[in-house]
Amino acid sequence: MRIIKDINFNWKYTDQFKEEYIGEDFDDSYFSEVNIPHSNIEVPFNNFPEEIYQFESCYRKSLWLDKWHDDEMVFIHFEGVMTYAKVYLNGQYLGEHKGGYTGFRIDLTPAARAEDYNLLAVYVDSRERSDIPPFGHVVDYMTFGGIYREVSLEYCHKVYIESSLIKGKDLLSETPLMEVDLHLKNSDGRSGVISCSGELVRDNRNVLHFTTEIALSGNENQLHRFNCSLENIELWDIENPALYHLNLTLTEKGKETGKYSYRCGFRDISYRPDGFFLNGRKIKIRGLNRHQTYPYAGNAMPKSAQYKDAEILKEELGVNTVRLSHYPQSRHFLDRCDELGLLVFDEIPGWQHIGDDDWKKISLKNVEEMIKTDGNHPSIFIWGVRINESQDDDEFYAKTNDLARSLDNSRPTGGVRCFPGSRLLEDVYTYNDFNHSGKNAGLIKRKKAAKSKVPYLVTEHNGHMFPSKKFDNEKHRTDQAKRHLTVLDWMYGDSEISGAIGWSMFDYYTHQDFGSGDKICYHGVMDMFRIPKNASFAYASQQDENPVMYISSSMNIGENEGSLLGDVYIFTNCDSVKMYKGGSFVKEFYPRRDLYPHLPHPPVVIDDFLGDAIEKNETFSRRNAAVIKELMTKISREGYSLGLIDTIRMGLLFLKTGMNYKDAEDLYTKYFGGWGGAANSYTFEGFIDGECVKRVEKNQNALPRLVLSVDKTELREEETWDCTRCIVSLADSSGNIFHYGNDAFQIETTGPIEVIGPETIALVGGSVGFWLKTRGEEGQAQVKIHSGRFGTIEENLNIEVRGK
Ligand code: GAL
Repeated sequence: MRIIKDINFNWKYTDQFKEEYIGEDFDDSYFSEVNIPHSNIEVPFNNFPEEIYQFESCYRKSLWLDKWHDDEMVFIHFEGVMTYAKVYLNGQYLGEHKGGYTGFRIDLTPAARAEDYNLLAVYVDSRERSDIPPFGHVVDYMTFGGIYREVSLEYCHKVYIESSLIKGKDLLSETPLMEVDLHLKNSDGRSGVISCSGELVRDNRNVLHFTTEIALSGNENQLHRFNCSLENIELWDIENPALYHLNLTLTEKGKETGKYSYRCGFRDISYRPDGFFLNGRKIKIRGLNRHQTYPYAGNAMPKSAQYKDAEILKEELGVNTVRLSHYPQSRHFLDRCDELGLLVFDEIPGWQHIGDDDWKKISLKNVEEMIKTDGNHPSIFIWGVRINESQDDDEFYAKTNDLARSLDNSRPTGGVRCFPGSRLLEDVYTYNDFNHSGKNAGLIKRKKAAKSKVPYLVTEHNGHMFPSKKFDNEKHRTDQAKRHLTVLDWMYGDSEISGAIGWSMFDYYTHQDFGSGDKICYHGVMDMFRIPKNASFAYASQQDENPVMYISSSMNIGENEGSLLGDVYIFTNCDSVKMYKGGSFVKEFYPRRDLYPHLPHPPVVIDDFLGDAIEKNETFSRRNAAVIKELMTKISREGYSLGLIDTIRMGLLFLKTGMNYKDAEDLYTKYFGGWGGAANSYTFEGFIDGECVKRVEKNQNALPRLVLSVDKTELREEETWDCTRCIVSLADSSGNIFHYGNDAFQIETTGPIEVIGPETIALVGGSVGFWLKTRGEEGQAQVKIHSGRFGTIEENLNIEVRGK
């Protein structure tokens, strides 16, 4: 029998370590009560010493173990402990693990007592140990500490499947196959024959049955590979992410010894010099890089937060790819990518630095752990087997590549580098291209980076080239968006570039050697709470699923140099945008394909705030009205000093119309609403196929309201605690954010929930977020926001606690 039990609740924790903590008799009643995922310390939002999470700590748990048969064993499975762990049961040392980004199993059997409470103690070292990747030099992200991913027990037979890899072969041919690699562990080196029967299931429908016999070799590790033909299989695709379950049953001498179930999907991947092909269809990769960190909690966030990030990427930002920079991430995140059809670039932990031979051994182990743990996620289309942006090391990287290929012959390898002409030992030249600095080319050519005609993918761009905060001025925020669009435009326009993955999805915690001095790198298209900056809409507007129309300006003249609005960018996938000023139609604007020839959806640029208003409202002839508009538009963009020819044209106009300088000034104020003029209101309507699909009002007299939005109101504890994100923003009745709102407020909760992080916070650039977490009880919960200025806003949550 094989049984898996989650053991995430009711742990004891202390932020130090002493040998005596290992002992069964040690009294840990003064330790804190914690649930896993757990961060060894809750960190401030910013401006803290980075050593605060770098210490040794201890977790203890009184663990009830059921009975198991002589032929069976019991394991504990940790999905992620940062950075080094030693595991003890009933005072006995049972094993260790180096590296915080991959999971590990420890056999508890030698020290375990069945049908009894056992004392589990885990020593956790969260210091930046130079013997473990990514450490040894500087790293541009914080690693945080603790048992931050889930923990479970597994009771299983002594001959068990350690991991499986389910692959599709020849999927586009007449004779598609499923190839399965079973990595078996034969812990007592037995011989004989066992049998493995299986079924492939989709939506409770059985699509395949098979049985395969396995002759045990007597070795501890054994690979059993078999294949079956597939019929009428639905392929996994980014638009139709079809998923199957492979259910396996092992039997020995007619007796069942274990059941296993793996979710999987079948898709054909081909990476060629002319691009990336999914199921035979060429796809341009448009993606973002993701770190796994969150405000206050560091790495320690459960399933729903991980799910939400994948949903934001696919549904809000409209990208088709995410790179797990720079380490394997939560299985929940990957599960959701599988379900949504979001392609994933998975890679081993590391950042620029390669350590000594022992360090490299851990890195090779990381390759194995990554592939064996993540291999059945159809969303993963490539394995990153280089230390991000490290120097060439042919001997080392030949080994990482060989290992990856020997474990998984169904996916290409990549390895992220940042210098041209690096030696390609991988299948795809994956390159961080930070060429774009605002005015120049978006990307360099493949021949310059890779030096040959090989499959080529840009794995990072922008990032540190243009840090942007949500509270930067409007022009800066929009420039960040334009830079991302420029790179995407170059990517779409170059058939030798298979795609581009931008840096990065959101702002992230970093070390003092990077960032803005407050321990944050503001490189995200969203902030740390996953609240969009203008650049988010550059991405969102490139998809076709939902209509998007984001006006990048608040339309307040005083925000701009010389109080000139300049060009207003609208990030949209609409066919056209109609603008009204003060209720009167000004003009219909179209996407600027002349500026961005290759983008799926170039932005619309508002460069005319008048339309034919002068001609319509004033008594000038059509010709004179046109000249007045042209000259005034010039003034509005370039300032009051007209060149010689335009000054002569202005003079002639005065002669012809009898206008004087004062009349001209009044006219300018009337139509351009410049400094000294009254505020204006604007309406924008976005059209697709002749239908108005989006409407946005921008009214400078609009009043601010504090708005609370909660991602979900039904929380549910299953394998561990649950959480939801709340966003508080200062917005007008049309939803426009007041970007410079910094009001403070208190969060109050009632019922079985608590706030992650401080309960008194302030808006940062008009909005801020926080997470609420469950704490092991059932019932109705409420969250209230108290603001001196805006009063109290409340939201009811139904907290459902299940299956604990
Ligand atoms: C890259 C690096 C990333 C991040 C980025 C910032 O060089 O791979 O981790 O630091 O720069 O733009």
